[in-house]
Amino acid sequence: MTKLLITGGAGFIGSNFVHYALAHPDVSVTVLDKLTYAGSLASLTGLPEDRFRFVHGDICDSALVTELFGEHDAVVHYAAESHNDNSLSGPAPFVQTNLIGTFTLLEAARATGIRYHHISTDEVYGDLEFDDPERFTESTPYNPSSPYSSTKAGSDLLVRAWVRSFGVQATISNCSNNYGPRQHVEKFIPRQITNVIDGVRPRLYGDGLNVRDWIHADDHSSAVMRILEAGRVGETYLIGADGEKTNRDVVEAILQMMGQPTDAYDLVTDRPGHDKRYAIDWSKLSDELGWTPTYQSFPDGIADTIAWYRDNEAWWRPQKAEAEAKYAAVGQ
Ligand code: NAD
Ligand code: DAU
Repeated sequence: MTKLLITGGAGFIGSNFVHYALAHPDVSVTVLDKLTYAGSLASLTGLPEDRFRFVHGDICDSALVTELFGEHDAVVHYAAESHNDNSLSGPAPFVQTNLIGTFTLLEAARATGIRYHHISTDEVYGDLEFDDPERFTESTPYNPSSPYSSTKAGSDLLVRAWVRSFGVQATISNCSNNYGPRQHVEKFIPRQITNVIDGVRPRLYGDGLNVRDWIHADDHSSAVMRILEAGRVGETYLIGADGEKTNRDVVEAILQMMGQPTDAYDLVTDRPGHDKRYAIDWSKLSDELGWTPTYQSFPDGIADTIAWYRDNEAWWRPQKAEAEAKYAAVGQ
Protein backbone atom coordinates (compact mmCIF):
# COMPACT_ATOMS: atom_id res chain seq x y z
CA MET A 1 0.00 0.00 0.00
CA THR A 2 1.38 3.43 -0.98
CA LYS A 3 0.41 6.00 1.65
CA LEU A 4 -0.07 9.49 0.16
CA LEU A 5 -0.56 12.72 2.09
CA ILE A 6 -2.41 15.31 -0.01
CA THR A 7 -2.40 18.92 1.21
CA GLY A 8 -5.31 21.03 -0.06
CA GLY A 9 -7.22 17.87 -0.96
CA ALA A 10 -10.59 19.54 -0.30
CA GLY A 11 -9.96 22.09 -3.07
CA PHE A 12 -10.63 21.84 -6.79
CA ILE A 13 -7.53 20.14 -8.16
CA GLY A 14 -6.46 18.44 -4.93
CA SER A 15 -9.84 16.68 -4.64
CA ASN A 16 -9.57 15.59 -8.27
CA PHE A 17 -6.24 13.97 -7.47
CA VAL A 18 -7.66 12.30 -4.34
CA HIS A 19 -10.40 10.65 -6.43
CA TYR A 20 -7.87 9.74 -9.12
CA ALA A 21 -5.34 8.26 -6.68
CA LEU A 22 -7.95 6.22 -4.76
CA ALA A 23 -9.06 4.59 -8.00
CA HIS A 24 -5.78 2.67 -7.60
CA PRO A 25 -6.56 -0.09 -5.06
CA ASP A 26 -3.01 -0.12 -3.67
CA VAL A 27 -3.11 3.56 -2.64
CA SER A 28 -4.33 5.10 0.62
CA VAL A 29 -4.80 8.84 1.05
CA THR A 30 -4.77 11.29 3.93
CA VAL A 31 -5.98 14.81 3.15
CA LEU A 32 -4.63 17.70 5.22
CA ASP A 33 -6.81 20.77 4.60
CA LYS A 34 -7.65 23.93 6.53
CA LEU A 35 -11.08 24.20 4.87
CA THR A 36 -10.78 27.85 3.90
CA TYR A 37 -13.61 29.39 1.85
CA ALA A 38 -12.18 27.35 -1.08
CA GLY A 39 -12.23 23.94 0.61
CA SER A 40 -15.28 21.71 0.61
CA LEU A 41 -15.83 18.36 2.30
CA ALA A 42 -18.58 17.83 -0.27
CA SER A 43 -15.77 17.29 -2.80
CA LEU A 44 -14.58 14.26 -0.83
CA THR A 45 -17.68 12.09 -0.76
CA GLY A 46 -17.95 8.53 -2.09
CA LEU A 47 -14.36 7.59 -1.21
CA PRO A 48 -13.37 4.16 0.18
CA GLU A 49 -13.52 4.54 3.99
CA ASP A 50 -10.78 2.00 4.66
CA ARG A 51 -8.25 3.89 2.51
CA PHE A 52 -9.19 7.53 3.11
CA ARG A 53 -8.69 9.85 6.10
CA PHE A 54 -9.37 13.59 6.47
CA VAL A 55 -7.29 15.76 8.82
CA HIS A 56 -8.53 19.31 9.42
CA GLY A 57 -5.44 21.45 9.87
CA ASP A 58 -3.06 24.11 8.59
CA ILE A 59 0.08 23.43 6.54
CA CYS A 60 1.76 26.14 8.65
CA ASP A 61 1.38 23.90 11.76
CA SER A 62 4.87 22.45 11.94
CA ALA A 63 4.18 19.83 14.65
CA LEU A 64 1.13 18.46 12.83
CA VAL A 65 2.87 18.40 9.46
CA THR A 66 5.98 16.64 10.81
CA GLU A 67 3.84 14.00 12.55
CA LEU A 68 1.85 13.34 9.36
CA PHE A 69 4.98 13.17 7.20
CA GLY A 70 6.31 10.43 9.45
CA GLU A 71 3.22 8.31 8.68
CA HIS A 72 3.30 8.54 4.86
CA ASP A 73 5.42 7.53 1.85
CA ALA A 74 4.96 10.72 -0.15
CA VAL A 75 3.30 14.13 0.05
CA VAL A 76 1.68 15.98 -2.82
CA HIS A 77 1.36 19.65 -1.94
CA TYR A 78 -1.70 21.33 -3.48
CA ALA A 79 -2.77 23.60 -0.59
CA ALA A 80 -2.62 27.27 -1.54
CA GLU A 81 -4.45 30.51 -1.78
CA SER A 82 -5.14 30.17 -5.49
CA HIS A 83 -7.15 33.11 -6.86
CA ASN A 84 -5.41 36.07 -8.50
CA ASP A 85 -8.27 38.52 -7.90
CA ASN A 86 -8.26 37.76 -4.16
CA SER A 87 -4.50 38.28 -4.05
CA LEU A 88 -4.99 41.81 -5.38
CA SER A 89 -7.58 42.73 -2.75
CA GLY A 90 -5.85 40.92 0.16
CA PRO A 91 -2.36 39.47 -0.36
CA ALA A 92 -1.56 38.55 3.29
CA PRO A 93 -2.98 34.98 3.30
CA PHE A 94 -1.11 34.29 0.05
CA VAL A 95 2.22 35.12 1.70
CA GLN A 96 1.29 33.06 4.77
CA THR A 97 0.00 29.90 3.10
CA ASN A 98 1.97 29.84 -0.15
CA LEU A 99 5.35 30.85 1.30
CA ILE A 100 5.32 30.06 5.04
CA GLY A 101 3.20 26.97 4.44
CA THR A 102 5.59 25.62 1.81
CA PHE A 103 8.58 26.46 4.02
CA THR A 104 6.94 24.50 6.86
CA LEU A 105 6.40 21.47 4.63
CA LEU A 106 9.96 21.58 3.30
CA GLU A 107 11.40 21.66 6.80
CA ALA A 108 9.30 18.60 7.66
CA ALA A 109 10.45 16.91 4.44
CA ARG A 110 14.06 17.63 5.43
CA ALA A 111 13.50 16.16 8.89
CA THR A 112 11.71 13.01 7.70
CA GLY A 113 13.20 12.34 4.24
CA ILE A 114 9.73 11.93 2.70
CA ARG A 115 9.28 12.13 -1.10
CA TYR A 116 7.70 15.53 -1.83
CA HIS A 117 5.89 16.72 -4.96
CA HIS A 118 5.19 20.42 -5.27
CA ILE A 119 2.20 21.62 -7.30
CA SER A 120 2.74 24.94 -9.00
CA THR A 121 1.53 27.07 -11.86
CA ASP A 122 2.62 28.36 -15.26
CA GLU A 123 1.99 31.89 -13.93
CA VAL A 124 5.44 31.88 -12.31
CA TYR A 125 6.81 32.60 -15.81
CA GLY A 126 4.82 35.81 -16.26
CA ASP A 127 3.06 36.20 -19.60
CA LEU A 128 3.70 35.96 -23.34
CA GLU A 129 2.92 38.39 -26.13
CA PHE A 130 -0.04 37.29 -28.26
CA ASP A 131 2.19 36.75 -31.30
CA ASP A 132 5.15 35.18 -29.48
CA PRO A 133 6.01 31.92 -31.29
CA GLU A 134 7.64 30.54 -28.10
CA ARG A 135 5.80 28.79 -25.30
CA PHE A 136 6.87 28.43 -21.64
CA THR A 137 9.47 25.72 -21.02
CA GLU A 138 11.16 24.48 -17.85
CA SER A 139 14.01 26.95 -18.50
CA THR A 140 11.88 30.08 -19.03
CA PRO A 141 13.01 32.73 -16.49
CA TYR A 142 10.66 33.40 -13.58
CA ASN A 143 8.79 36.72 -13.98
CA PRO A 144 5.55 36.62 -11.94
CA SER A 145 3.02 39.46 -12.11
CA SER A 146 0.56 39.17 -9.21
CA PRO A 147 0.80 38.62 -5.45
CA TYR A 148 -0.56 35.10 -6.11
CA SER A 149 1.96 34.18 -8.79
CA SER A 150 4.87 35.80 -6.96
CA THR A 151 4.17 33.74 -3.84
CA LYS A 152 3.91 30.59 -5.98
CA ALA A 153 7.22 31.52 -7.66
CA GLY A 154 8.81 32.04 -4.24
CA SER A 155 7.53 28.67 -3.07
CA ASP A 156 9.04 26.95 -6.14
CA LEU A 157 12.41 28.59 -5.43
CA LEU A 158 12.26 27.39 -1.83
CA VAL A 159 11.76 23.84 -3.12
CA ARG A 160 14.73 24.13 -5.48
CA ALA A 161 16.93 25.44 -2.67
CA TRP A 162 15.83 22.68 -0.26
CA VAL A 163 16.67 20.09 -2.94
CA ARG A 164 20.10 21.51 -3.61
CA SER A 165 21.14 22.52 -0.09
CA PHE A 166 19.49 19.80 1.99
CA GLY A 167 18.90 16.91 -0.44
CA VAL A 168 15.10 16.99 -0.09
CA GLN A 169 13.58 14.40 -2.47
CA ALA A 170 11.37 16.81 -4.38
CA THR A 171 9.89 17.33 -7.83
CA ILE A 172 7.92 20.34 -9.08
CA SER A 173 5.18 20.62 -11.69
CA ASN A 174 3.89 23.85 -13.22
CA CYS A 175 0.50 23.42 -14.86
CA SER A 176 -1.67 25.66 -17.02
CA ASN A 177 -5.30 26.66 -16.32
CA ASN A 178 -7.45 23.77 -15.12
CA TYR A 179 -11.17 23.28 -15.68
CA GLY A 180 -13.60 20.56 -14.68
CA PRO A 181 -16.03 19.66 -11.88
CA ARG A 182 -15.75 20.99 -8.30
CA GLN A 183 -13.99 24.25 -9.19
CA HIS A 184 -14.94 27.21 -6.97
CA VAL A 185 -17.40 29.59 -8.66
CA GLU A 186 -15.01 32.53 -8.25
CA LYS A 187 -12.96 31.08 -11.15
CA PHE A 188 -13.64 32.06 -14.77
CA ILE A 189 -15.34 29.00 -16.27
CA PRO A 190 -17.60 28.03 -13.32
CA ARG A 191 -18.45 31.69 -12.74
CA GLN A 192 -19.75 32.04 -16.28
CA ILE A 193 -21.58 28.67 -16.30
CA THR A 194 -23.34 29.45 -13.02
CA ASN A 195 -24.11 33.00 -14.18
CA VAL A 196 -25.88 31.59 -17.26
CA ILE A 197 -27.78 29.11 -15.05
CA ASP A 198 -28.86 32.13 -12.95
CA GLY A 199 -29.90 34.13 -16.02
CA VAL A 200 -26.96 36.58 -15.58
CA ARG A 201 -24.75 37.62 -18.50
CA PRO A 202 -21.11 36.39 -18.35
CA ARG A 203 -18.48 39.03 -17.54
CA LEU A 204 -15.24 39.35 -19.49
CA TYR A 205 -12.35 41.43 -18.15
CA GLY A 206 -11.01 44.15 -20.46
CA ASP A 207 -11.44 43.30 -24.13
CA GLY A 208 -11.81 39.58 -23.45
CA LEU A 209 -8.86 38.72 -25.66
CA ASN A 210 -6.46 37.42 -22.99
CA VAL A 211 -5.39 33.85 -23.70
CA ARG A 212 -5.29 30.94 -21.27
CA ASP A 213 -4.02 27.41 -22.01
CA TRP A 214 -6.75 25.09 -20.71
CA ILE A 215 -6.32 21.53 -19.42
CA HIS A 216 -8.93 19.26 -17.83
CA ALA A 217 -8.20 18.59 -14.13
CA ASP A 218 -8.30 14.81 -14.82
CA ASP A 219 -5.30 15.25 -17.11
CA HIS A 220 -3.47 17.31 -14.47
CA SER A 221 -4.00 14.43 -12.02
CA SER A 222 -2.69 11.74 -14.37
CA ALA A 223 0.39 13.86 -15.07
CA VAL A 224 1.11 14.35 -11.35
CA MET A 225 0.76 10.61 -10.72
CA ARG A 226 3.19 9.91 -13.57
CA ILE A 227 5.74 12.35 -12.08
CA LEU A 228 5.34 10.73 -8.65
CA GLU A 229 5.95 7.31 -10.22
CA ALA A 230 8.85 8.13 -12.54
CA GLY A 231 9.89 11.80 -12.27
CA ARG A 232 13.53 12.53 -11.52
CA VAL A 233 14.15 14.13 -8.11
CA GLY A 234 15.15 17.79 -8.41
CA GLU A 235 13.42 18.18 -11.78
CA THR A 236 10.63 20.50 -12.88
CA TYR A 237 7.95 19.32 -15.34
CA LEU A 238 5.51 21.58 -17.18
CA ILE A 239 1.98 20.21 -17.61
CA GLY A 240 -0.29 21.38 -20.42
CA ALA A 241 -2.58 20.12 -23.18
CA ASP A 242 -2.33 22.56 -26.12
CA GLY A 243 -5.54 24.29 -25.00
CA GLU A 244 -4.91 27.93 -25.89
CA LYS A 245 -8.14 29.94 -26.15
CA THR A 246 -9.09 33.60 -25.77
CA ASN A 247 -11.51 34.27 -22.94
CA ARG A 248 -14.05 35.27 -25.59
CA ASP A 249 -13.68 31.88 -27.30
CA VAL A 250 -14.41 30.15 -23.99
CA VAL A 251 -17.45 32.26 -23.11
CA GLU A 252 -18.88 31.93 -26.61
CA ALA A 253 -18.54 28.13 -26.40
CA ILE A 254 -20.29 28.11 -23.00
CA LEU A 255 -23.11 30.37 -24.25
CA GLN A 256 -23.61 28.30 -27.38
CA MET A 257 -23.69 25.01 -25.44
CA MET A 258 -26.13 26.49 -22.93
CA GLY A 259 -28.54 27.64 -25.66
CA GLN A 260 -27.79 31.39 -25.45
CA PRO A 261 -26.76 33.91 -28.16
CA THR A 262 -22.95 33.83 -28.38
CA ASP A 263 -22.69 37.61 -27.88
CA ALA A 264 -24.75 37.64 -24.66
CA TYR A 265 -21.84 38.75 -22.44
CA ASP A 266 -20.54 42.06 -21.01
CA LEU A 267 -17.04 43.55 -20.96
CA VAL A 268 -16.16 44.80 -17.46
CA THR A 269 -13.25 46.50 -15.64
CA ASP A 270 -9.96 44.75 -16.39
CA ARG A 271 -7.88 42.96 -13.73
CA PRO A 272 -4.88 45.13 -12.70
CA GLY A 273 -1.67 43.64 -14.13
CA HIS A 274 -3.73 41.12 -16.13
CA ASP A 275 -1.38 38.58 -17.76
CA LYS A 276 -1.92 38.53 -21.52
CA ARG A 277 -1.21 34.98 -22.55
CA TYR A 278 0.02 31.65 -21.18
CA ALA A 279 1.16 28.73 -23.37
CA ILE A 280 2.87 25.53 -22.25
CA ASP A 281 5.44 23.36 -23.99
CA TRP A 282 4.88 20.00 -22.26
CA SER A 283 7.33 18.02 -24.42
CA LYS A 284 9.66 17.20 -21.49
CA LEU A 285 6.84 15.40 -19.67
CA SER A 286 5.82 13.60 -22.82
CA ASP A 287 9.34 12.68 -24.03
CA GLU A 288 10.78 11.72 -20.64
CA LEU A 289 7.80 10.15 -18.88
CA GLY A 290 5.56 9.16 -21.79
CA TRP A 291 2.55 11.17 -20.51
CA THR A 292 -0.17 12.50 -22.81
CA PRO A 293 -3.51 14.15 -21.98
CA THR A 294 -6.69 12.15 -22.55
CA TYR A 295 -9.14 15.08 -22.95
CA GLN A 296 -8.29 15.82 -26.60
CA SER A 297 -11.48 17.83 -27.17
CA PHE A 298 -12.02 21.08 -25.25
CA PRO A 299 -15.72 21.28 -26.30
CA ASP A 300 -16.34 17.78 -24.87
CA GLY A 301 -14.62 18.74 -21.61
CA ILE A 302 -16.63 21.96 -21.35
CA ALA A 303 -19.88 20.12 -22.10
CA ASP A 304 -19.10 17.65 -19.26
CA THR A 305 -18.31 20.57 -16.95
CA ILE A 306 -21.56 22.40 -17.78
CA ALA A 307 -23.49 19.18 -17.11
CA TRP A 308 -21.73 18.79 -13.75
CA TYR A 309 -22.68 22.32 -12.60
CA ARG A 310 -26.26 21.81 -13.80
CA ASP A 311 -26.48 18.54 -11.84
CA ASN A 312 -24.70 19.74 -8.69
CA GLU A 313 -26.24 23.06 -7.71
CA ALA A 314 -26.22 22.01 -4.04
CA TRP A 315 -22.41 21.91 -4.22
CA TRP A 316 -21.88 25.41 -5.68
CA ARG A 317 -24.91 27.43 -4.60
CA PRO A 318 -23.54 28.19 -1.07
CA GLN A 319 -20.45 29.86 -2.67
CA LYS A 320 -22.17 31.97 -5.28
CA ALA A 321 -23.51 35.06 -3.45
CA GLU A 322 -20.25 35.74 -1.59
CA ALA A 323 -18.15 35.34 -4.75
CA GLU A 324 -20.40 37.70 -6.72
CA ALA A 325 -20.42 40.27 -3.88
CA LYS A 326 -16.61 40.43 -4.06
CA TYR A 327 -16.77 41.03 -7.81
CA ALA A 328 -19.53 43.63 -7.51
CA ALA A 329 -17.37 45.62 -5.06
CA VAL A 330 -14.73 46.14 -7.80
CA GLY A 331 -17.07 46.58 -10.76
CA GLN A 332 -16.55 43.10 -12.19
P1 NAD B 1 -8.40 25.81 -4.47
O1 NAD B 1 -8.41 27.24 -4.05
O2 NAD B 1 -9.59 25.24 -5.14
O3 NAD B 1 -8.09 24.87 -3.21
C1 NAD B 1 -7.10 25.17 -2.28
C2 NAD B 1 -7.27 24.22 -1.10
O4 NAD B 1 -6.20 24.49 -0.16
C3 NAD B 1 -8.58 24.42 -0.34
O5 NAD B 1 -9.16 23.17 -0.04
C4 NAD B 1 -8.15 25.14 0.94
O6 NAD B 1 -9.00 24.87 2.05
C5 NAD B 1 -6.75 24.57 1.15
N1 NAD B 1 -5.89 25.45 1.96
C6 NAD B 1 -5.67 26.78 1.78
N2 NAD B 1 -4.82 27.24 2.72
C7 NAD B 1 -4.47 26.17 3.49
C8 NAD B 1 -3.62 26.00 4.61
N3 NAD B 1 -2.94 27.04 5.13
N4 NAD B 1 -3.48 24.76 5.14
C9 NAD B 1 -4.16 23.70 4.62
N5 NAD B 1 -5.01 23.81 3.58
C10 NAD B 1 -5.16 25.03 3.01
O7 NAD B 1 -7.10 25.65 -5.39
P2 NAD B 1 -6.89 24.83 -6.74
O8 NAD B 1 -7.35 25.65 -7.88
O9 NAD B 1 -7.39 23.46 -6.53
O10 NAD B 1 -5.29 24.84 -6.80
C11 NAD B 1 -4.56 23.81 -6.11
C12 NAD B 1 -3.09 23.99 -6.40
O11 NAD B 1 -2.86 23.92 -7.80
C13 NAD B 1 -2.52 25.33 -5.96
O12 NAD B 1 -1.23 25.12 -5.45
C14 NAD B 1 -2.47 26.15 -7.23
O13 NAD B 1 -1.44 27.11 -7.18
C15 NAD B 1 -2.15 25.07 -8.24
N6 NAD B 1 -2.58 25.31 -9.62
C16 NAD B 1 -3.86 25.67 -9.89
C17 NAD B 1 -4.27 25.82 -11.21
C18 NAD B 1 -5.70 26.16 -11.56
O14 NAD B 1 -6.00 26.34 -12.74
N7 NAD B 1 -6.62 26.26 -10.60
C19 NAD B 1 -3.35 25.62 -12.25
C20 NAD B 1 -2.02 25.28 -11.93
C21 NAD B 1 -1.66 25.12 -10.61
O1 DAU C 1 -2.48 29.44 -15.16
C1 DAU C 1 -2.74 28.73 -13.99
C2 DAU C 1 -3.58 29.57 -13.04
O2 DAU C 1 -4.88 29.61 -13.59
C3 DAU C 1 -3.59 29.03 -11.63
O3 DAU C 1 -2.30 29.13 -11.08
C4 DAU C 1 -4.57 29.82 -10.76
O4 DAU C 1 -4.66 29.22 -9.47
C5 DAU C 1 -5.93 29.79 -11.42
O5 DAU C 1 -6.85 30.59 -10.67
C6 DAU C 1 -5.83 30.33 -12.84
O6 DAU C 1 -5.48 31.73 -12.84
P1 DAU C 1 -6.22 32.77 -13.83
O7 DAU C 1 -6.11 34.11 -13.23
O8 DAU C 1 -5.78 32.56 -15.22
O9 DAU C 1 -7.73 32.17 -13.73
P2 DAU C 1 -9.16 32.87 -13.57
O10 DAU C 1 -10.15 31.76 -13.60
O11 DAU C 1 -9.22 33.82 -12.43
O12 DAU C 1 -9.28 33.72 -14.92
C7 DAU C 1 -9.08 33.12 -16.20
C8 DAU C 1 -9.12 34.24 -17.24
O13 DAU C 1 -10.44 34.77 -17.31
C9 DAU C 1 -8.22 35.43 -16.92
O14 DAU C 1 -7.73 35.98 -18.14
C10 DAU C 1 -9.16 36.42 -16.25
C11 DAU C 1 -10.45 36.17 -16.99
N1 DAU C 1 -11.72 36.42 -16.25
C12 DAU C 1 -11.87 35.86 -15.02
C13 DAU C 1 -13.06 35.99 -14.33
C14 DAU C 1 -13.26 35.40 -12.96
C15 DAU C 1 -12.74 37.11 -16.87
O15 DAU C 1 -12.59 37.61 -18.00
N2 DAU C 1 -13.93 37.23 -16.20
C16 DAU C 1 -14.14 36.71 -14.97
O16 DAU C 1 -15.25 36.86 -14.41
